[in-house]
This record gives sequence, C-alpha cells and structure tokens, in this order.
Amino acid sequence: MRGFGIAHDLDRLLPLMQSKGVTLSAAQFQSAVNLIFHECEAERYDELHADMRRSLPQQFALLIDDLIAADSFPNEPLRILDIGGGTGQSAELLLDQLKMIRVAQLDLLDTSPKMIELCAKRESIRSYQPRFIRGTLADLKESSRYNLILCCSVLHHIPDLEEFGSKLQKLQPPGGVFLHLQDPNGAALASSVLRRRMKALEAAPEVRLRSLSSRLHPQRLANRARRMLGLPVPRSYMETVNEALLASGVAAVPLTDDEIWSVTDLRVHDGKGVETDSLQHVLPGYRLVSQRSYAFYGGLDSTLPARFRKGEQELIRRHSLDGMQLAAAWKRTRQSI
Ligand SMILES: C[S@@+](CC[C@H](N)C(=O)[O-])C[C@H]1O[C@@H](n2cnc3c(N)ncnc32)[C@H](O)[C@@H]1O
Repeated sequence: MRGFGIAHDLDRLLPLMQSKGVTLSAAQFQSAVNLIFHECEAERYDELHADMRRSLPQQFALLIDDLIAADSFPNEPLRILDIGGGTGQSAELLLDQLKMIRVAQLDLLDTSPKMIELCAKRESIRSYQPRFIRGTLADLKESSRYNLILCCSVLHHIPDLEEFGSKLQKLQPPGGVFLHLQDPNGAALASSVLRRRMKALEAAPEVRLRSLSSRLHPQRLANRARRMLGLPVPRSYMETVNEALLASGVAAVPLTDDEIWSVTDLRVHDGKGVETDSLQHVLPGYRLVSQRSYAFYGGLDSTLPARFRKGEQELIRRHSLDGMQLAAAWKRTRQSI
C-alpha cells in the first residue's frame, strides 16, 4: 500500500525540519509537535470547536440511523473506545445519541495529558466511570474488547494509517462498529464543485460583514489598544505552542501557524485527506456500512448564513458525498487475520 506508510507522509516534513534546526527524526518531530499543539490547545478546545458541538449531533444521528437500518448496530451493552477523545466533546455527542442503550464500558485514549485532565472533569463523561488511557492505539493491550470505536477529528493527525488499521482490527470482535467523522474528505478536497461553493460562501455579504465585525471584536480592539500603550497582550495559544517547541528543544527557530498545522494536520496539508477506498485497504476485516459527507460550503452547518444552511441541509438529505468533511461507519465482519 504505497501512500499510507509512515515514510511517505513524513518525508514531506524534512525541508521544514531542516529550516527550523530540528535534530529529531521526522516521526519524532511529528509526534512532539502534535503533542505540544494539543497540550496548548486543550484549555480553549471547546470554545474553538463550538461549531462541532452544534453541528455534529446530526452526523452522529445519521451514522447511527444508517447502522440500525442496515441491522449493523451492536445489540449488546456497549464497550466503547474513543480514540483521541480530547476534552470529551466527541464522546459526549455520541453518548447523547445512545440514551436508550446500555454502556458497559467507556475508555478514552489520548496522547495529551491536559486533554485527559479536562475530559476527566466533564460531568456527562464522569457518570460512565470512564477509564483514561494516555498514548496512541499502539499502547493499548490487544484484545477484542470494544464493540464500538469512535474516532472524531483524529485521522488527519495519524501518520501511518496502515499501522492504525491493523491495530484497530485487533481491538474489535466481529460485529464491532468503527465510527469516524470530521475527517478531511479526500474524495472532494480537490473538487471544483467544492471550490465553487466555498467561493460563493466567501463572497456572500453576510460573511463579509461577519469578518468585518470579527475584526472589530472588543477583545481585538482591547489588544490593539494595549499594544499601542506598550502593555502586555494576552498570548494566543499558537504563540504558546511555539514557546513550548523552542523551550523543549524540538525546534530552534519559531514556526508559523501554517507550518505548525502542516505538521499536526498531516492529511489536510498534503491535500489527500481521508478516503473510504483507502481505509478499506487498511481495514480488510471491515465492511463499509455508511459514508456521509457534510460541510459542502467548507464550514460546518452551524457557522453558515441561513440560505447556505438550507443548501447544506438539502445536500445532506440527498446523501451527496462531495463536502469538505467525511463521516463513515464500518462493521467488523471477520476475526483478525
Ligand atoms: C482535534 S482533537 C479531537 C478531540 C475529540 N475527538 C473531539 O472530536 O472533540 C484531536 C485529539 O486527538 C489527540 N491525538 C492526536 N494524535 C493522536 C494519536 N496518535 N493517538 C491518540 N490521540 C491522538 C489529540 O491530543 C486531541 O485530543
């Protein structure tokens, strides 16, 4: 499977690493930047991703409905693993959809201790007496324990999807379900239709007005005034990422925001995104039950002006697959090979 190995993706980082005085290997660099970025983002994660909290319940509901309609939803108490569970937002959204279904186990896996710390404080998650595991999928003990695995907004951070898929298979018995969503939709990222829709949104007067009013946001104006008076301005979390990268010796020269994202959001920046065809290769023991797409104008539903939201909902209803984001549900059909 060319294109999914760790070397293929990470070689792209070598020129950047050279220019920033990085002495780590590409894999170590990606993992260190990914960890530091999420550690610094954790405190602000829920605020920065409020659009996901408002828009994703619909996608969770659709995937679960599709599984039920295909008679593929597990019919025993759920043993759930949330990979890259973050502050618990994705698990909470999933659990909200499963009100009538008994949850026997909830494990949340994450590389970032700060994310885990915040997740452990989340009331809705605590009520399930969850277990928190710090690390990657490779750190989990291999046993077919989870009949529902969730991975929301995480696959684009994973350098080696082949390794990921082979480990995932070992964690689920036949009948288990793997849900992933909020993935950059590889099948559509380069599509001219998506580009046209995004341009139409950008040009809409409501959106131009919104970007003007965000420039006039009171916090921004206050920061400008403080700068003019020579007073300290609160640091953005991206500044704290850079400080931590320099302090820990990961880089010798600061990175721009885009450079940092090119390391963390690997599959967004390589333009390849995530595709169900490719995932099928790394998940041979799984059957694709449902794939869905959304964010047909680039942004999530809750961020769109009313008339674009109407278009978004119509495209979701028509089950169109050329939105910016991909969601899918897979069923484990046979035992590990
Ligand atoms: C964009 S956040 C998504 C959080 C949560 N799933 C949600 O949807 O709100 C990505 C999370 O994945 C974690 N993460 C990144 N790479 C990971 C990996 N290889 N294994 C486990 N967690 C990872 C990050 O620390 C972060 O908490």
